[in-house]
Amino acid sequence: MSLIENIIRPEVRALVAYHVPDSTGFVKLDAMENPYTLPQELRNELARRLADVAMNRYPVPSYRALKAKICDKLGVPAGFDVVLGNGSDELISMISVACAKPGAKVLAPVPGFVMYAMSAQFAGLEFVGVPLKADFMLDKAAMLAAIEQHKPAVTYLAYPNNPTGILFDADDMVDIIRAVGDSGVVVVDEAYQPFAQASFMPRLAEFDNLIVMRTVSKLGLAGIRLGYMSGSAALLSEFDKVRPPYNINVLTQAAAEFVLDHAQVLDAQAAALRDEREKLVAALTALPGVKVFPSAANFLLMRVEAENTSANNVFSALLERKVLIKNVGRMHALLENCLRVTVSTPEENKLFLDALKASLAS
Ligand SMILES: Cc1ncc(COP(=O)(O)O)c(C=O)c1O
Repeated sequence: MSLIENIIRPEVRALVAYHVPDSTGFVKLDAMENPYTLPQELRNELARRLADVAMNRYPVPSYRALKAKICDKLGVPAGFDVVLGNGSDELISMISVACAKPGAKVLAPVPGFVMYAMSAQFAGLEFVGVPLKADFMLDKAAMLAAIEQHKPAVTYLAYPNNPTGILFDADDMVDIIRAVGDSGVVVVDEAYQPFAQASFMPRLAEFDNLIVMRTVSKLGLAGIRLGYMSGSAALLSEFDKVRPPYNINVLTQAAAEFVLDHAQVLDAQAAALRDEREKLVAALTALPGVKVFPSAANFLLMRVEAENTSANNVFSALLERKVLIKNVGRMHALLENCLRVTVSTPEENKLFLDALKASLAS
């Protein structure tokens, strides 16, 4: 046996690392980032604040001030606290690690966010994917049957879902949360909440097994890596035990505290992106050869239905025109011939639309 075979778990050796393509020189519409930056005066003030940060010191791991600001500015109900993660990716890992009892399972609708399955595998949990319906809504009967059969320790529901953009029916979600009951936790992942304007956060008190997870990434701060989750104090304190003590660095902490004092700037950017989303939906709906799906997020899923081409061809033709979107067709059978594009500024959306029209014609 080689060194690698001796030491690395077979399921890890079988995994393919999460791939992030090089986007240098491209119009970057593959990762649901907010295209807008902060206004210049705020950037200057932020620079002054960051210059004063004690980078020679470890962070204070309670993160009391940042947590209080998140609770206050981002709609966490009174009496609920948050646990912070280095992006919600780290929160997902923490949940997996904390729940990785022998034989425990993680369940989520598929296609969904890939890190639910990857993180489960990293921690040695079995992942059960329950296919969505063809219109990408929840298959409630199949979800309830899978919950009954597998008794998952963790169930993820992304609200809205990635890569489909669809907001699941809230009553279906409640039925799922109730069906799981005290045999598992249901994580409602609201990464795209600023674009959906719908949330389970205000409903936390109704369900002991509910965790609501969010990130500041899609709001305009993907680079600082900060996610948060809320739920009952009992659950949060268990998840907090597996959190690396200094997981939020002092620069992220200072930047987030500063930006949250100016949250209205990010809210206005999200509102502009919601408007742009509707314009882009209208333009794509009018375009022969593509079908666009309804979206409550800052991205759109579309299917290439033109007879003379395919999503693979359109994706490559867009790359030649220096526009990078995401080719999701290989992720799941339900996504055959589908592409996902981030909603951006009016200028970038026009560049994308022009390139798409040319790509469909080529
Ligand atoms: C549904 C969903 N959850 C979580 C994340 C990860 O967010 P973060 O940047 O906070 O790690 C993403 C990123 O695309 C996502 O789509």
